[in-house]
Amino acid sequence: MIITIDGPAGAGKSTVARLLAQTLSKQSGKTFEYLDTGSMYRAIALMGLRRKVDWDVAEELERIAENVSIAVRNGKTFLDGEDVTELVRSPEVTDKTRFAADNPAIRRIMVSLQRSIAEQLREDGKGLVTEGRDQGTAVFPDAPVKFFLTATPEERAKRRLNELQQHGKQGKLNEILQQITNRDVRDASRAVGPMKEPADAIRLVSDGMTLEDVVCQLTQKIIESILCII
Ligand code: DC
Repeated sequence: MIITIDGPAGAGKSTVARLLAQTLSKQSGKTFEYLDTGSMYRAIALMGLRRKVDWDVAEELERIAENVSIAVRNGKTFLDGEDVTELVRSPEVTDKTRFAADNPAIRRIMVSLQRSIAEQLREDGKGLVTEGRDQGTAVFPDAPVKFFLTATPEERAKRRLNELQQHGKQGKLNEILQQITNRDVRDASRAVGPMKEPADAIRLVSDGMTLEDVVCQLTQKIIESILCII
């Protein structure tokens, strides 16, 4: 069974997907893995930085995407076998990831990889909670349960500032808000695989909710949806 979670940056999709997979594994007795698809685009960008590609020549990054191996297991991202889970979250990588995410040829490779990961899990008798921008629309349009998890830009900016402060870093709320708004526009206006709320998605606006509240609501919605299907 595939459950998709799409939504904008900073909505907490990654943490929610991980906790939801854990909860479903406990409650259903069947193992659910989770997939952070943003980390795959980030891994391509990391390799682009390492190989010092010319970012204006799209083919250079495409060659990388065709030749590297990306694996996502137990919430960790591996690039040619190296664990790059932390490295792909750096601001330098975040800044360059758009070159991977905006590139249609790279998206085709990533979509095919995401589908084969899901197929492998299905063959192994496991479920998948996958999160990104295009999971319920372009990658798994037939997923039986789809979510669109969002929060207002102001709420997402406040959460990001809190996160930075917890790591002993500084930030300015208005600058973070501007970055988040820019990313929303960019993610929604991408020619291929744009962020778009699937027509059949359940929408959740998480302003004022704790992570536990969100996971609890999603679990409840999954149970209701499955009862409807049966
Ligand atoms: O979710 P994230 O911030 O790690 O995603 C990094 C970038 O990749 C972000 O700009 C959106 C893009 N992305 C995408 O285009 N499609 C996905 N399925 C996941 C992420």
